[in-house]
Formats: sequence, C-alpha cells, structure tokens
Amino acid sequence: MARVLSIFLLTLFLWSLSFCKEPVQKPELEGFVVKNVIHPNNNPYNQDKVELGKLLYFDKRLSLKGDTNCAICHSVEIQNSEVVSAPRNKIHKSVAPPLTNVALYKDVFTDPQANDLEEIVKERVHTAIMLKDEKTIVARLSQVPEYRELFEKSFGSPGITMDRIVKAISTFERTIISKNSKFDRYVMGEESALSPSQKRGLDVFMNKAKCTQCHKGPNFSDSEQHTTGLKGITQKIRTPSLRDVSKKSEFMHNGEFTKLEDVVNHFVKGGSKGSISDPLLKPSAISEEEKKDLIEFLRSLEGESHPLEMPKIPRA
Ligand code: HEC
Ligand code: HEC
Repeated sequence: MARVLSIFLLTLFLWSLSFCKEPVQKPELEGFVVKNVIHPNNNPYNQDKVELGKLLYFDKRLSLKGDTNCAICHSVEIQNSEVVSAPRNKIHKSVAPPLTNVALYKDVFTDPQANDLEEIVKERVHTAIMLKDEKTIVARLSQVPEYRELFEKSFGSPGITMDRIVKAISTFERTIISKNSKFDRYVMGEESALSPSQKRGLDVFMNKAKCTQCHKGPNFSDSEQHTTGLKGITQKIRTPSLRDVSKKSEFMHNGEFTKLEDVVNHFVKGGSKGSISDPLLKPSAISEEEKKDLIEFLRSLEGESHPLEMPKIPRA
C-alpha cells in the first residue's frame, strides 16, 4: 500500500514539475550568449589601438571634404548627450546599421584567422564621401603630432598607412559590443531577469514563430543573406543582429518600418503578399497576446548602456 502511495506521490510530483518547466531549456540557449570577442592574429588588441581607432572614427579628416565622420552615419551612444543619430544615407537610400556588434557576425566571431571586419572597413572607408583619396588622408593625419605618436604606440613602429588606419578602426569596433542584456543574464542563471511575458516571448521566438531559423547565435544572426518579403525588394539582405533592436527608430535596410510592432507583424505574416519570399519565411499562427510577448522578448535583448566618451580630436 505504502508503495502504491509513494508511486502515486512521485507521479504527482513529476506531473507538477512539468508545469514549472521552463518553456525553453537553458543549454539550447547557451549558443546565443555573447562571449569574448576574438581579435585576429594579424591585428591583435591593445588599448592604444582602441583609442586611436576611436579618434579616427570621429575624425572628419577621414572624409574627403572634411565634413563627415563614421559616427555621423553609424549611431553610437555618447555620454551626456543624445545618441548621435544615424540619418538615412542619401546616397545609398538605406539606413546605416549601428556598428555595435559587427564583430559578432559569424565569420568574424569564430575564426581568429578571419579578417573580414578589416575587409569591410577597408571597403567602407573607400566610399565616395570618406577616404577616397588615400594619399591626402594619410598626409593630413601625418601632420598631426599626436597621431604620429599614437600610430607608433599602437603598432610598435612609426608610420601612418591605410592598412593601419583600417586596423585601428576595426579594433575599436570590436570593443563596441552590446553586453549583459536581460536575456544574457537569464541564460547565465538569473531566473528573474526575464519577465513571464518575455519568457513566453522567448518560446514563441524559438518554437512557434521559428525566428531562430535566421536570427541565431550570439548576434541573433546567421550572417546569411535572405529575402524577407518586402514589397518590390528582390535583393537579399544579410540577417541583422537583433541585439539592441528596440533602441532603433527605423527598421529594415530601407527604413520600411518605424515600429517594432510592424516589423513583428511583417514576419509573423510571412512577408507581404505578392513579394519575393524566402523559403524559410512562413506565416505563423500566433495570437495577439503572443505577438506582444514576442515584442517584450525583443526588448530583453537590449544590452547595458555603455555610452562612449566623446574623444578630443587632436589638432595639427
Ligand atoms: C554617409 C553615411 C555613411 C558613412 C559616413 C559611413 N558609413 Fe558605413 N555604412 C553606411 C551604410 C548605409 C551601410 C550599409 C549599407 C551598405 O552596405 O551600403 C554601411 C555599412 C558599413 C559597415 C558594414 C556593417 C554591417 O553590419 O555589415 C561597416 C563595417 C561600416 N559601414 C563602417 C564604416 C566606417 C568605419 C566608416 C568611417 C570610416 C563609415 N562606415 C562611414 C553608411 C555610412
Ligand atoms: C528568412 C530569414 C528570417 C526569418 C525567418 C526572420 N527574419 Fe527577421 N530579418 C531577416 C532579415 C534578412 C532582415 C533584414 C531585412 C532588411 O533589412 O530588409 C530581418 C530583420 C528583422 C528585424 C529588423 C531589424 C533591424 O535592425 O532593422 C526584426 C525586428 C526582425 N527581423 C525580427 C524577426 C522576428 C521576430 C522573426 C520571427 C517572427 C523573424 N525576424 C524571422 C531574416 C529573417
């Protein structure tokens, strides 16, 4: 009799456990946490290089006409001031992505030999408005004693070159990472970091709506290109990071949406009717309540705020 009773109690206990069970198991989520960024062997980290890269990022000397810097287009949070906002790039008609977390895209993140970020930065500094004329820019920077000193300190020998400019900016970019979001804290064991709604939203994100087909890994991006069913857009776009997405005011590469709600609706519907759609993008049957949870979950990906101190651009 006692045996039957104990089996009964055990069953009851296990049954009640299934109600407390977390919707998504933690080990499944570990691959989504931001770990340390890897600096490639041919461009090792040092603090001087970070400082130099930051100066270059804000220095208008890098633009052909001396009127633009990287930060004007790529928003960054600055101490004691508004976010330096990212206006629509009039030339490309597209929204400049924030450069937070560029180092977390798959290739750059996992392979210490990869210098993809350097390659992207190199390509980027060569756009029409920026460093089109390498010689001029190098000559301009060489006139500044503080730069001559900083390049020597950062690279171990004197000399200002395009290669070093690109390396310094890339090293700085590897340090602007969105960290310690509520989501990360939850996965690392802080149970109450996510609200009940955010936990349900996480479940929708992973399971019901299958957003993780494309938004996965520490940057919530597969680093692959997809079409996403925007009307009239046939071009494939690389899956953007969803970290800090709730801090943005324009979404998708062309700024198609201004509300997170509208983006979520777009993906839940599986894209607009009559547009080119990715095979991975399917409508998902989720309730209005679940949509709200999903949005709440996206908010949990906001990292701790680490506003940059505006550097003092050295004078010639
Ligand atoms: C006039 C605006 C503008 C300026 C100035 C600008 N960028 Fe960009 N940048 C963009 C836009 C728009 C994109 C994305 C669309 C594209 O690829 O053309 C982009 C993309 C990038 C990317 C790729 C990001 C990613 O997520 O793939 C990097 C890296 C980058 N820029 C670095 C820089 C650096 C470094 C500077 C300064 C030397 C700079 N940009 C200056 C507008 C700008
Ligand atoms: C087929 C792959 C794919 C799937 C599935 C997918 N996304 Fe995306 N997502 C993308 C791509 C690619 C973009 C960028 C599109 C663009 O810029 O035009 C994007 C953009 C976004 C953005 C805007 C980010 C920004 O910075 O502008 C949000 C938010 C988003 N997705 C959330 C979701 C949610 C929530 C789901 C699940 C309901 C989902 N996505 C499913 C590929 C995907």
